[in-house]
Amino acid sequence: MPSVYICDVIEENGINLLRSRGFTTDINKSGRDLSFEELKKVFTKYDAVITMVNNKVDDKLIKKSSKQLKVIANYAVGYDNIDTIFAKKKKITVCNTPGVASESVAEHTFALIFALNKHLFGADRFIRSGKFSKFDPNLFLSRQLWGQTIGVIGLGRIGTFVAQIAYGGFRMKILYFDQKRSEDFELIYSAQFGDIETVLKYADIISLNVPLTDKTRHLIGRRELKLMKNSAILINTARGQVVDEEALIWALREKEIAGVGLDVFEHEPQISRELFTFDNVIVTPHIASATVETRKKMSQITAQNIIDVFEGRGPEGLVKI
Ligand code: GLV
Repeated sequence: MPSVYICDVIEENGINLLRSRGFTTDINKSGRDLSFEELKKVFTKYDAVITMVNNKVDDKLIKKSSKQLKVIANYAVGYDNIDTIFAKKKKITVCNTPGVASESVAEHTFALIFALNKHLFGADRFIRSGKFSKFDPNLFLSRQLWGQTIGVIGLGRIGTFVAQIAYGGFRMKILYFDQKRSEDFELIYSAQFGDIETVLKYADIISLNVPLTDKTRHLIGRRELKLMKNSAILINTARGQVVDEEALIWALREKEIAGVGLDVFEHEPQISRELFTFDNVIVTPHIASATVETRKKMSQITAQNIIDVFEGRGPEGLVKI
């Protein structure tokens, strides 16, 4: 019976699917990440491993895997934590869970936009600390989203959903940057394509929706933050390393931008403490895709990816390199 190791507790449906197809499963229920040594043992013992975004699956780890290991199934859309080229050399199939998190991540992008724009946390703290003594017409003023311009950087599925909410819900103007233009997208959402500088310069809200690659690491640094309007906000639900965190702190200190909503961090789970000193920063712990619907789909597709490899089919989530 092929064996699967699951590096963290996931929704049951995928585990049940694997068991129903004759796979044995072991799960890391310790509540902490496996160390390199522990991962090494897993990679020498199992036929398939379900990894999380926080498991670093680099060449050193893959080198230690036994011939028995056929699949690394990442429980995520992104797979920047895996050295896919090295895995291919070792004839290990790498899979991800494409397309299942787009709605959830787009919703979270807007949760951060609302919270920042409407000063939700500051207003909540204001009341809790007993400061609400009278209606004040000048208290916590914000600008309405209607008619603002959103700059979508990265037009994959998530970026498209962000634009859909922005356009459908708020008639926002859509500017976007991607490696390639989409005329259909421009037509449906009255969107305008621009180079990254133009998007940064003219948008009131910047939403980062790119995968982490060598090209997108530190895509947003001092120069880019300086290009943004002083009144604009930045939302990152993509990957922490897309933004140079030191440059971001500089931009907040210098008031180069008006605020930032972050679900991901450059040195996750470590976060620069200085970020917490700004009222116009909202942080969430990498939960943009954390809806029950998405997690169930992730569990299902991850299990199906493994089953497909073992049954000789091309899995839906095959990472092609
Ligand atoms: C989460 O960050 C994912 O890539 O699915």
